Amino acid sequence: MWPYPKVIAHRGGGTLAPENTMAALQCGLSHGFRAVEFDVMLSKDGIPVLMHDPLFGRTVAGEGNVAGTMAQDLMRMDAGSWFSKDFAGEPVPSYQQVLEFCLKHGIWMNVEIKPVPGFEDATGRAVALMTRQINAGEQVLLSSFSFDALMRAKECAPEIARGFLTDQLESDWLQRLQALSAIALHTNHHYLNADLTGQVKDAGYGVFCYTVNTPARAREIVEWGVDAFCTDRIDLITHDFIA
Ligand code: G3P
Ligand code: MG
Repeated sequence: MWPYPKVIAHRGGGTLAPENTMAALQCGLSHGFRAVEFDVMLSKDGIPVLMHDPLFGRTVAGEGNVAGTMAQDLMRMDAGSWFSKDFAGEPVPSYQQVLEFCLKHGIWMNVEIKPVPGFEDATGRAVALMTRQINAGEQVLLSSFSFDALMRAKECAPEIARGFLTDQLESDWLQRLQALSAIALHTNHHYLNADLTGQVKDAGYGVFCYTVNTPARAREIVEWGVDAFCTDRIDLITHDFIA
């Protein structure tokens, strides 16, 4: 049985708000979503912040990078204007701010640990310890494309659930899940099918898909036995889409 929410707002508010911001979380909440996915990366001074890209230029302006910038400077950057002038000045939030917001509003979190290359251990550790410090572990499912980051999270806070995130299933998926004591495999729905879903489920793991943006596709993967998915289209796929 999958004990978590089944439809999750990708990057906070999907395509309806600037990703990985408090405004995105508010947007998800206003659409009835009490389950979000977001990405966490470390600043130069080792503070976890919400960010998808290691380099500036897409969601924040400029030519720098996250790992070379202090948290207090990152948190003054405008992560909203790229999306729309309505969100101008929307800041980069810290992971701590987001944990506190989600605890206050009863929002479940799939926290994607998104380390800059070379910072896998540090990011896994910082995210795990912050989650524990804020006492949010029961509302968090950690995931990462970085096996090393998740292993470090497991060492630091084994009580926080983990899902191994992979674009396509490699032949060693079961060994990876076992080594991580993970509860789920998170994977790209484009490369998944009913047979692979069944294999993962039969092995005793949950299956989580990213990023499913049409109701028809959502119905199809749920038929296969997929337990949960994240979506950018929180306007088309409602939080209660899966009964
Ligand atoms: O965690 C699922 C999904 O968010 C992974 O891809 O690039 O959107 O972080 P990305
Ligand atoms: Mg992500």
